[in-house]
Amino acid sequence: VTLDGGGGTIVPALIELHAHLREPGQEEKEDLASGLAAAAAGGYGTVVSMPNTSPVVDDPAIVRQLAEKAARLGFARLRPAAALTKGQQGKELAELALLKDAGAAMFTDDGRTNEDARVLRLGLEYASSLDMVVSVHAEDATLRADGVMHEGEVSEALGLPGNPAEAESARVARDIEIARLTKARLHVQHLSTARALDLVRRAKADGVPITCEVCPHHLTLTHEHLRGFDAQYKVAPPLRTSEDAAALLRGLSDGTVDAVGTDHAPHTSSEKERDLLTAPFGIPSIEVAFPLMYTRFADTLGLQKLVDLFTSGAARVMGWDAPTLEPGAPADLTILDLDTERAVEPSTFRSKAKFSPWAGEVLRGWPTLTLVAGRVAFQRGA
Ligand code: DOR
Ligand code: ZN
Ligand code: ZN
Repeated sequence: VTLDGGGGTIVPALIELHAHLREPGQEEKEDLASGLAAAAAGGYGTVVSMPNTSPVVDDPAIVRQLAEKAARLGFARLRPAAALTKGQQGKELAELALLKDAGAAMFTDDGRTNEDARVLRLGLEYASSLDMVVSVHAEDATLRADGVMHEGEVSEALGLPGNPAEAESARVARDIEIARLTKARLHVQHLSTARALDLVRRAKADGVPITCEVCPHHLTLTHEHLRGFDAQYKVAPPLRTSEDAAALLRGLSDGTVDAVGTDHAPHTSSEKERDLLTAPFGIPSIEVAFPLMYTRFADTLGLQKLVDLFTSGAARVMGWDAPTLEPGAPADLTILDLDTERAVEPSTFRSKAKFSPWAGEVLRGWPTLTLVAGRVAFQRGA
């Protein structure tokens, strides 16, 4: 298409099913205005925000406040996820029906790893009766312990406490069995290991109603990046081996992975400049996710598949209708410039997190225009 002299490729506006926007309570890291503007600049028309805020989003009034505020801003649409358990303490289920009525898009205790099996079973049964999906940050807290990076030869060489691959696969195995038992829709967030991915592949073959997502950082970075002791690379689950990253890419190709989610996790620069032991976990990526994935993997996956992972795949996970560009549909669309090369320049980010592990990397596939409900939510250069 050509618009006002600029060309591009029109796709449905991207759907982000996993972002930490930090409001309420941690606005020094991010807020709705900065996070949703950043999302629109990344080509996203819709964002599912995580509830590990302060206070936790376990109260219908907070869901309503977030949705109302986001609607006034006019950037990407916000669909808040609500906590599965009160205070994300993993003990007592939140008021899921009231949270759904208030507009919650899904339930999750992401950021915590502490739902016990009984609570997850009850939560899945309750959410399923409401036709809602539960998503899990699948890491066994006791195996993960105080690990700050992947447990392996690099953590041993650096003398840093490790978080083993088995902390993920053990929890994914458990959660698959609970999904099998309850027949309820379970979504596994940010898979990082070949072993856990394989468990999901087999569960899907068995007909367990499970979906999963993979993040750009687990596909493009590895534990080798921690050798410089730079806490920018500290994230949970941690960056793994190149074999894990290759396995995740195969999972995108063969349909095991349903969607790409960013796990956009903004923190302040001073927090991320601390040492590896004390810096917080998380990598911000909402403004670079599509161009990064396009530049690195369009040859392997093809444009159609890549766009599906950022749009219909994410919609399927959420139980939403597939986005469409049919006449009469709400104009949620993004124009991508697949040709122009541009380096990642964190100082220009709309996000408050103005740093990036991909800073300086030259990428293609940058969004130039994002329309949300027919209104311009982002226009490059404007
Ligand atoms: O790296 C992470 N950052 N993993 C999480 O589970 C939470 C997230 C955050 O909230 O910063
Ligand atoms: Zn998580
Ligand atoms: Zn997360």
